[in-house]
Amino acid sequence: MSQPYTITLIPGDGIGPEVTSAARRVVEATGLSFTWDVHHAGASVMDAAGTPLPTSVLDAIRATGIALKGPITTPVGSGFRSVNVAIRRALDLYANVRPARTMPGLPRSRPGVDVVIVRENTEGLYLGIEHEVIADQATEAIRIITRSASERVVRYAFDYARRNGRHQVTAVHKANILKVTDGLFLKVAREIAQGYPDIDFQDLIVDNMCMQLALQPEAYDVLVLPNLYGDIVSDLCAGLIGGLGVIPGANIGDDLAVFEPVHGSAPDIAGQDRANPIAAILTGALMLRHLGEIEAATRVETAVNKVVAEGVVVTPDLKPGRPEAKVVGTQALADAIIARMG
Ligand code: NAI
Ligand code: MG
Repeated sequence: MSQPYTITLIPGDGIGPEVTSAARRVVEATGLSFTWDVHHAGASVMDAAGTPLPTSVLDAIRATGIALKGPITTPVGSGFRSVNVAIRRALDLYANVRPARTMPGLPRSRPGVDVVIVRENTEGLYLGIEHEVIADQATEAIRIITRSASERVVRYAFDYARRNGRHQVTAVHKANILKVTDGLFLKVAREIAQGYPDIDFQDLIVDNMCMQLALQPEAYDVLVLPNLYGDIVSDLCAGLIGGLGVIPGANIGDDLAVFEPVHGSAPDIAGQDRANPIAAILTGALMLRHLGEIEAATRVETAVNKVVAEGVVVTPDLKPGRPEAKVVGTQALADAIIARMG
């Protein structure tokens, strides 16, 4: 890929348009040149298109190979199925990568955290195969774990560790209870680990993993998890480093990649200029790395770290413990980051 880079931009719902526009401005401030191919998905297109995920959106991502995406609301209990999950499955984006690193200067950011979540992104409970067995009385969900999906995500975790100079991979499971499904995931992880003698391998049961992360997060490096545990443990890791407002994410397949922050559409603060754009901006930096623009990515990350460490301006979520900091809006925080990019 060469400049201008053509990126599919999906603004999303709730705070999505606010944070993706901030991310777009920051990646443009690196001086690189981008063409943004904007497509809409989610509740806003449901009426006009008859579906929250028009095939034109998937075709656009297949054409550019890369997307920057805001969060999309999924109705709880009833209504349409998750557009986010549908995109990941339709494009076979099998590895959901979510790095959580200490943000120096942030009072609620635990020191020494540098964990990368690699979450299986195409199967498990997120296939959403569930039904009522007896109306209103008994329900059932089917959880699919396959050797092929487990193999490729575990291999991705080990390759990621090697590429990024990391030394440890922890497979997370509940194979004591789910002996067949998580049993297969764990068995495959142990097999793949044999091929990476340079990387330490261990496995932990997911409840113990949560306790260990709360107790000594600095002891962990790369985690690889089935879909549901990956989703839950991601938010736990977000909480360790300052909240959902600061944690980026990427959905990676063999040929395509969709970059999106870990957080959702945050309807409680949407449209109020209160959303923290840092998660989306760091997501933009992950996208720059994927494009091979390492220097530009580092500039963005360094500028974010400076603004957080200085603590002169913060969005409301980063205010606790910082009486001296001035609360500003989403775009003003992005401006402060751009001003530090030098
Ligand atoms: P959420 O992540 O939207 O919000 C959880 C809490 O974190 C809220 O208090 C929110 O205000 C806060 N928060 C999230 N992002 C923030 C930011 N950038 N700055 C400051 N505060 C932030 O999770 P919730 O409430 O469970 O889900 C809301 C909707 O988002 C649901 O419809 C859900 O399905 C959807 N969702 C979409 C995702 C995606 O598109 N990838 C991921 C997670 C949820
Ligand atoms: Mg989640």
